[in-house]
Amino acid sequence: MAINWYPGHMAKGVREIKESIKLVDIIYYMLDARAPISSMNYDILDASRGKKIILLFNKVDLSDRSELKKYIKYYSDMGYPCLEIDAKNIKIVKDIINLSKKILLEKNLKLESRGLKEKEIKSIVLGIPNVGKSTLINTISKKRIMEVKNFPGVTRNISWSKLSEDIFLLDTPGVLLPKLDEKTGLVLSIIGSIKDSILPEMEVMKFALSFLLKKYPLRLKEKYNIVSGDTIDTMLEKIYKSRNLQGEVDYSRVFVIFLKDIRDYKLGGLIFDDLER
Ligand code: G4P
Repeated sequence: MAINWYPGHMAKGVREIKESIKLVDIIYYMLDARAPISSMNYDILDASRGKKIILLFNKVDLSDRSELKKYIKYYSDMGYPCLEIDAKNIKIVKDIINLSKKILLEKNLKLESRGLKEKEIKSIVLGIPNVGKSTLINTISKKRIMEVKNFPGVTRNISWSKLSEDIFLLDTPGVLLPKLDEKTGLVLSIIGSIKDSILPEMEVMKFALSFLLKKYPLRLKEKYNIVSGDTIDTMLEKIYKSRNLQGEVDYSRVFVIFLKDIRDYKLGGLIFDDLER
């Protein structure tokens, strides 16, 4: 299956992000807690060497929280500080500040030995489309005073919001391209990071059904009475009929129903990645 969805403006976006990264000390890299591997962009991590990266697992309210622990361990073992967040919840701002302050302190301890001290740190939110970057920035700005601050050496007129006395956040998040292999594309399509019109609906549904049958068979049984011996046509028909729709199955409608159920937590908290792949 060929995925041809690289939007032209993205290449420019990536160049701009690399420029923005140079300005900051901390990167809040947002992962979708329903796809903690597929929503990672390792290229940008490479471009962020020397910066402190904090991984924010967003949309935990929609994720399989017990499985998520494995992913948090996986990334923590790689050395990344991790936080589980719900970007709409104002309470997480304090956690982000506390973790960032710890990092600032560590940095200053190192600098102190050379007689230096960093007064302020600058940060940016990065992540693939729809992961919740703007939501987080909005949540932060509800609590914080927005101000345009000039930092030495930063010529662009960039707006920063004040996260705390000493932490500033770039108001424009960096949008990253997800990876483009087939499986990642399918996972990101299910969670809504890739527009629904980009991948063939049938491929997305088949992938979601086989994944759920393998990993969460009880959820499918309870919601649609789907069982592992069912053919793909039977499964799609069962989803269609779950809305009391009659007559010939309209597969585009099944797609809308099924994807909406998944995204609206009607099948419970889910993770569409697996660590072993
Ligand atoms: P982006 O800037 O990274 O592209 O993402 P954005 O903040 O626009 O968020 C994309 C969608 O994800 C929004 O929903 C937003 O409300 C939702 N969202 C963000 N964080 C969370 C979270 O922690 N949990 C849940 N459940 N949803 C979250 P939308 O339907 O596009 O918009 P809206 O209906 O919320 O306005």
